[in-house]
Amino acid sequence: MPTLETMTAGAAEPQLERPAKVIARNVNVYYGDKQALKDVSLDIEARSVTSFIGPSGCGKSTFLRCINRMNDTIAGCRVTGRIEIDSQDIYDPALDVVHLRARVGMVFQKPNPFPKSIFENVAYGPRIHGLARTKAELEEIVIGSLQKAGLFEEVKDRLDDPGTGLSGGQQQRLCIARAIAVSPEVILMDEPCSALDPIATAKVEELIDELRENYTIIIVTHSMQQAARVSQRTAFFHLGVVVEDGLTDSIFTNPKDRRTLDYITGRFG
Ligand SMILES: Nc1ncnc2c1ncn2[C@@H]1O[C@H](COP(=O)(O)OP(=O)(O)OP(=O)(O)O)[C@@H](O)[C@H]1O
Ligand SMILES: [Mg+2]
Repeated sequence: MPTLETMTAGAAEPQLERPAKVIARNVNVYYGDKQALKDVSLDIEARSVTSFIGPSGCGKSTFLRCINRMNDTIAGCRVTGRIEIDSQDIYDPALDVVHLRARVGMVFQKPNPFPKSIFENVAYGPRIHGLARTKAELEEIVIGSLQKAGLFEEVKDRLDDPGTGLSGGQQQRLCIARAIAVSPEVILMDEPCSALDPIATAKVEELIDELRENYTIIIVTHSMQQAARVSQRTAFFHLGVVVEDGLTDSIFTNPKDRRTLDYITGRFG
C-alpha cells in the first residue's frame, strides 16, 4: 500500500521547500448530487502562506472547509478521499472535531465578531478549551493575541466595549486575534480582506506575513496582487479541480497550464 507521502499530489507538482502540514488526496465533495470538488490532491507547506485562486464557484471555499471539517455542518454535503494534518487522518471517526477546529482556525470574508466585548471575543476560545487556569493567564492570552493581531494599541483602553463597535478592518483583526487565541496550527482565511479598504487590507496582509513564522496559512483571494504579495505558494482552482499549484512566482510568471494563464491574464473569471 502506498502511503500518502509516497503518492505524489499532481504529476508535475514541484517539491515543497518545507514539510507538508496538510496533505489532501483524491478529495471529492458533493452537495447532494452535485459534485463541487473533483479528485483534489494538494500538499500545503508548513509555516508558509498558500493562496487559493480561481473563478467564482470553482470550489475554493469548499476545499477550505474540508480542512477543518466545516462541511460537516452543511446538510447534504459529502466528502470522500483523504486529508491528513501532520500525518493524522482528520476524517477518522475517532477524531475530536472540536479539538480539530481549535487546531485549524478560520477567518471569514465578513468580519463576524460575537456580540460580546472585545476582551470576551478573544477570551471565548481559550475559555471553552480550558487553556487558562487563572484570570491572569486568560488576560495574558487575550492581550498577547490582540498584540499578535496588531490591534492591541488601538483597543487597549476599551477592552470592555463591544467588538461589533470597531471599524471593519479592526473587526477583522479582532477575528484574527480570536482565531490565534487558541494557538491553532493552521489558519484558514476565506477572502479576509474583501470587505476592507486598502489601508486595513495592508494591515491584515502585513499581519499574515508576520504570522507565517508560526502558523500554516491558507488564504482564498480574488486579488491576484494580494496572492502575489502575501503567499509563497499558490493553487489555481477551476471547475472543481486544482489545475496547478506551485511557487507563487512561477504560477504568476510561468504557468504550465493554459487555463491558469487565461485566468491570471484576465481572459476569464
Ligand atoms: N452549501 C452549499 N450547498 C449547495 N451547493 C453549494 C454550497 N456551497 C457551495 N456550493 C456549490 O459548490 C460549488 C463551489 O462553491 P464554493 O463556494 O466552494 O466556490 P468558491 O470557489 O469559494 O466561489 P467564490 O469565489 O464565489 O467564493 C458551487 O457550484 C456552489 O454553488
Ligand atoms: Mg468562496
